[in-house]
Amino acid sequence: MNAPRCDRTQAWAALKGHYEAHGREFDLREAFARDPGRFGSLAVEAPEVFADLSKNLIDIATQRFLLDMAAECQLEARRDALLRGDVANLTEGRAVLHTALRAPRGDGPFSTEIHDVLDRMLAYAESVRDTARSGIRHIVNIGIGGSDLGPQMVVPALDAFAHRGLTFHFVSNVDGHDITPVLRGLNPADTLFVIASKTFKTQETLANAEVARAWFLANGGVHIDKHFVATTTNVAAAAEFGIRTTFGFWDWVGGRYSLWSAIGLPIALAIGADNFRALLAGAHAMDRHFAHAPLSQNLPVLLGLLDIWYRNFHGFASRSVAPYHQGLKRLPAYLQQLEMESNGKCVDLAGESLPFSTCPVVWGEPGTNGQHAYFQMLHQGTEVIPVEFILVKRPTHDLPELHTKLLANGLAQSQALMVGKSTAQALSETAPTASTQLDAQTVARHRSFPGNRPSTTLLLDELTPRSLGALIALYEHRVFVSGALWGINSFDQWGVELGKVLCNDLLPRLGSGDVTGLDGSTAGLMRRLSA
Ligand code: F6P
Repeated sequence: MNAPRCDRTQAWAALKGHYEAHGREFDLREAFARDPGRFGSLAVEAPEVFADLSKNLIDIATQRFLLDMAAECQLEARRDALLRGDVANLTEGRAVLHTALRAPRGDGPFSTEIHDVLDRMLAYAESVRDTARSGIRHIVNIGIGGSDLGPQMVVPALDAFAHRGLTFHFVSNVDGHDITPVLRGLNPADTLFVIASKTFKTQETLANAEVARAWFLANGGVHIDKHFVATTTNVAAAAEFGIRTTFGFWDWVGGRYSLWSAIGLPIALAIGADNFRALLAGAHAMDRHFAHAPLSQNLPVLLGLLDIWYRNFHGFASRSVAPYHQGLKRLPAYLQQLEMESNGKCVDLAGESLPFSTCPVVWGEPGTNGQHAYFQMLHQGTEVIPVEFILVKRPTHDLPELHTKLLANGLAQSQALMVGKSTAQALSETAPTASTQLDAQTVARHRSFPGNRPSTTLLLDELTPRSLGALIALYEHRVFVSGALWGINSFDQWGVELGKVLCNDLLPRLGSGDVTGLDGSTAGLMRRLSA
């Protein structure tokens, strides 16, 4: 498809002008004062997710120019091509069809293959969940990146729906400090290892799988076929490892988009077949919204466009994610892979160097913990960092007094970021903890907040398998939107290759101490490590 890159559109030039005229000095407080209907006109309803975009540095004109840009870049045609299964991952010559994994039976490409594996995997999950018969009490997922972060994020998020007789462990790092404490508490007889690797070639995963197998045999484990299962596209390699029970998937499922495939087995083990299907259904509902909602009301599209506005016009280099739900504690880590491995690119599809910035740094912690750590910088630091708050209306615990406090905190933070506090206001207040040695004006300067700091609030009624599925799919599509407009391939990850190759070169050198041909720093460090 010969679609132009965003910076080669007329809308890009118009946005530059709009930014200079209205964007740079845009003030949220004035915008709300000018337009009492701002909340309503910048609210978006998507399946399971309500979004308040009104605390962002945009107005209707900004949105119109951004939507013009999307139209010039043929975003709708590119979205349709993606969902149809055209080759969207050009550098690897692959379709990108994680959306097919959550389509109902008979709907969408590869439906028969997908639902065969899904049915088999869910039946297997249910058999393990029958703990009286299976004897399994502990599940250890060994995988890394996309073969770890999805299940590791979703399992605690859906704790309210999880099997109470199963405990989940996630081992990813090749650092032995990861697997050692996990194995210490386990017994082979009631442990199931899930070896999760799309390629079944990843150094970290294979090394940990070998440690697990050796531990299993050394501690009286007998039936590897009952206690080890693999989720992979490389069934032959899993069989060579000695694993008989394997759930496959396909090369058109990218690692960071794979929790909907067999890689989701730990999720199915935790929440069961019906809930796993609800997770898929929630994601599918968001897929339909992405595919059919008009762009002006299409939440993934609007969020992707906002990302471009902030990165390329305001120059904001990062975005902070603050889920006000402890179950979503691993969401920021999950989004780091999803967004930064997808859109952390500096050449376009034609291999040309990009003259503009792409993916922002994505980071965060659950609220309210983040408030007592880095929120200081969000409020008074020199950088403007847009924040994404995720609030959940109803908790699944029965401690309503805590939940009300949590919600009040989340709302207060986005409010404080926006309204700020002037020095005059600070001067008029008492500051009991401030030093009496300083003059009042100086203290007030320290106690004032610039405000006008943007945020988005995503609101879920409840964190359920369905709403979580929709939320994750929302982020997936948003990443596609910004990547498509930037003109990059969001579906490869060549940037991880060089380190892997150099590691293979350094591995034997660490044993032999041979530093021939290495740069001075690496050689110096190597000598210290080998001494
Ligand atoms: O970090 C690179 C990467 O290829 C990720 O994209 C992927 O999710 C991860 O490694 C794990 O790969 P595999 O599932 O093949 O072990």
